[in-house]
Amino acid sequence: MNTDAAYAKEQDAKDPLASFKDRFVITDPDLIYLDGNSLGRLPKDTRALLNGLIDDWGDRLIRFWSQDHFNIATDLGDKIAKLIGASPGEVIIGESTSVNMYKLFMAALQHQTGRTRIVTDNLNFPSDVYILSEINRWLGNTHSVEVVASPDGMTGPVDAIKTLLDEDTALLTLSGTVFKSAYTYDMADINAAAAAAGALVVWDLSHSVGSVPIDLNGSGADMAIGCTYKYVNSGPGAPAFLYVRKDLQEKLFNPIAGWFSRENPFDFGLNYVPKTGIGRFLTGTPDALSMAPIGVGVDILLEAGMDRIREKSVAQTDYVIALVDEYLAPYGFTINSPRDAKYRGSHVAVGHPEAWRINQSMINDMNIIPDFRAPDNIRLGITPLYTTYTDIHAAIMRMKKIMDEKLYEKYTMEASATGVT
Ligand SMILES: Cc1ncc(COP(=O)(O)O)c(C=O)c1O
Repeated sequence: MNTDAAYAKEQDAKDPLASFKDRFVITDPDLIYLDGNSLGRLPKDTRALLNGLIDDWGDRLIRFWSQDHFNIATDLGDKIAKLIGASPGEVIIGESTSVNMYKLFMAALQHQTGRTRIVTDNLNFPSDVYILSEINRWLGNTHSVEVVASPDGMTGPVDAIKTLLDEDTALLTLSGTVFKSAYTYDMADINAAAAAAGALVVWDLSHSVGSVPIDLNGSGADMAIGCTYKYVNSGPGAPAFLYVRKDLQEKLFNPIAGWFSRENPFDFGLNYVPKTGIGRFLTGTPDALSMAPIGVGVDILLEAGMDRIREKSVAQTDYVIALVDEYLAPYGFTINSPRDAKYRGSHVAVGHPEAWRINQSMINDMNIIPDFRAPDNIRLGITPLYTTYTDIHAAIMRMKKIMDEKLYEKYTMEASATGVT
């Protein structure tokens, strides 16, 4: 692959998604933002929408809720369903990703009475594993939680997972795209193996939604959750989504039942009758102001088209890898993400023994924002809606300068005080 700056310019000039960058607030044009995989940029339309909603609250008071907002959790669920290959009535928005995981893990385990094995892998996000192990503790350690090790710390242990799927397996949960290496599972393959064993699968799609095409119905997925603040650009801590396959919904119960998961909540009856449909996984009043930006984020992604986004993401992550191989490998950098794009999401983890200090120098000396994941990964997040080839080329050149001039040496090895990296 051609790795010179002119090539980057040429690619940008013919990029069919180039105009989408202008849909986002960019206050520092020199900043190379490679962390859309942690927190997406602010869409310009979101600012206008939120200002309008705040005025609406001030003006209309309790009437704010009316039809427009009262069903926001299911209305936006139906919208995000289009992005992830689900049907209307299969997705809701609300809570954090972690809370939704708790709801679905509990619901699945209650349904799978008699089965005592829970399976995940050690590439999964820590929150997912904590929730599994704490649920098991609350249940009185009735289950075994098998955390299957990746063979290389990068690749999903597919075969080892499959050997644990049998008549004793209640639940398998994996990240569709894993947070460190961006390894991406073949969901249809895993779903088929789990279904054959009667195990239920909960997918964590936080790093997949908006970055790789997802076909929940087509791949035979049972359940999924995911966040909206990364590639869906819905803002810090924006509520998550929760998906349950239609024919499973009536068989499962919400462990955090509340008035919003009850039929006719405004009856105020004290008997609990779960809603039919996906609404039974709601709990309380929707956080309407935090949810609203999800509509904007999803609309932009649908307009750009997941196929075009994926095509650009593959081309750009391939480009990152080619540039790292050529310019940074001589300084000891390694590629800690799959080289085969089929198994890669939209970020590239590059490894270096000095990754923590280099990451500091990228932020403080070079005006690049990537992020660091222990022990030695710098994640370079590609967001095709606003990452340009020129950004990528410039970022690698700035990293080369850090190495040539040993700029990272002025930083200490101590982790940042805030802990947010
Ligand atoms: C893959 C993955 N799962 C779960 C979480 C936790 O999400 P939340 O903090 O919204 O509960 C994150 C957070 O970044 C994540 O990246």
